[in-house]
Amino acid sequence: MAQRHFEGKAHAESYQRYRVSPPQQLIDEVLNFLQKRIQGQLDLAVDVGCGSGQGTELLAPHFITVVGTDISAAQLEIASAKDHAPNLCYRECPAEELPFEDESSDLVTAMSSAHWFDHPRFLREVDRILKPGGCLALLSYTMDFELEYGESTPKLNEICQEFYTALFPFRKAYIGSSSLQVYKKIYDSVPYKDKEWHECHRSRTIMPLSRFIGFVETFSTYQSFLEKDSVGAKRLSKTITDRLLDAMGASSADTEVVVVLKYFYILASKPQKS
Ligand SMILES: C[S@@+](CC[C@H](N)C(=O)[O-])C[C@H]1O[C@@H](n2cnc3c(N)ncnc32)[C@H](O)[C@@H]1O
Repeated sequence: MAQRHFEGKAHAESYQRYRVSPPQQLIDEVLNFLQKRIQGQLDLAVDVGCGSGQGTELLAPHFITVVGTDISAAQLEIASAKDHAPNLCYRECPAEELPFEDESSDLVTAMSSAHWFDHPRFLREVDRILKPGGCLALLSYTMDFELEYGESTPKLNEICQEFYTALFPFRKAYIGSSSLQVYKKIYDSVPYKDKEWHECHRSRTIMPLSRFIGFVETFSTYQSFLEKDSVGAKRLSKTITDRLLDAMGASSADTEVVVVLKYFYILASKPQKS
C-alpha cells in the first residue's frame, strides 16, 4: 500500500516555502551520465515523487518535455500554480503505475522520494518506460544536516543533533532507521549492470535560521510529531530555535547560517538493444 504522508495542504505549502532544490552540480552530473548514453535530442524526463517541483524545474531546459508526477494532489496543486517552463507539466499518479508509453523516457528521476515507493514495482515501471540507454537517477540526502556559523559551529551542531534525536522516534517504520541503507538496498535491486553509487556530495546553502527550522519541519518525522502532539512539536521547534540563537549570539531568526546537506545518489542506465 502506498505511503501517504505528504497530503495536507499546509504541509504542501511548507514544502514550497522551505524545501531546497537539489544543487545544480548534481543535476549536471545526472545529465552528463545520461548524455554519454543517449546522444542528441532528449525527449522526455519524468520526475517521480516531485512534490512541489523544485527539482523538476531544473530538468526543463534539457528536455523537450518534463513531467513531474506525485501521488499527492496537494503537492501537485502547489507545483502547478507556480510559474514554470512551458514544457513542464504535472500528473497525479503513483510511482508504481506511471502513465507513460513503453520505452518513451530518456530519464527517470526521484529526488528525496524513492524511499517512500514500493521499490520492486517502481523499478519494474522504470524499466518499462525507459528507452534503451535511458537513465534512472535517484537522489537523496541524509537527515543530519550541519550548520555553520563561525566559532559557534560545533555548539550549533550539538543542538541540531538533539533536534534530530528528538524527532527520530517519529520516523515511519516503512523507511527503516537509515536512509542510506534503504537506498543501498534499492541500488542492489536495480537490474542494470551499468550503475553507480555516489556518496557523499556536500552542498552548502545560505539561509535564514528560520528557514532551516522550517525545512526540518517539512520532514515526515516532525509532521507526525505535530499530528500526535502539536504543542510538544511546536515547543521543541521553538526551544531549538532559541538555543541556536543563543549559541550564535544573535537575536533574530532572520540571521543567516550555512546549511550543509550531504547528498548521495544512484545513477543507472538501461542496456542498449543488441
Ligand atoms: C520528501 S518528498 C520529496 C519531494 C521533492 N522531490 C523534493 O525533492 O523536495 C516525497 C514526495 O514523494 C511523494 N510520494 C510518496 N510516495 C509516493 C508514491 N508511491 N508515488 C508517487 N509519489 C509518492 C510524496 O507525495 C512527496 O511529495
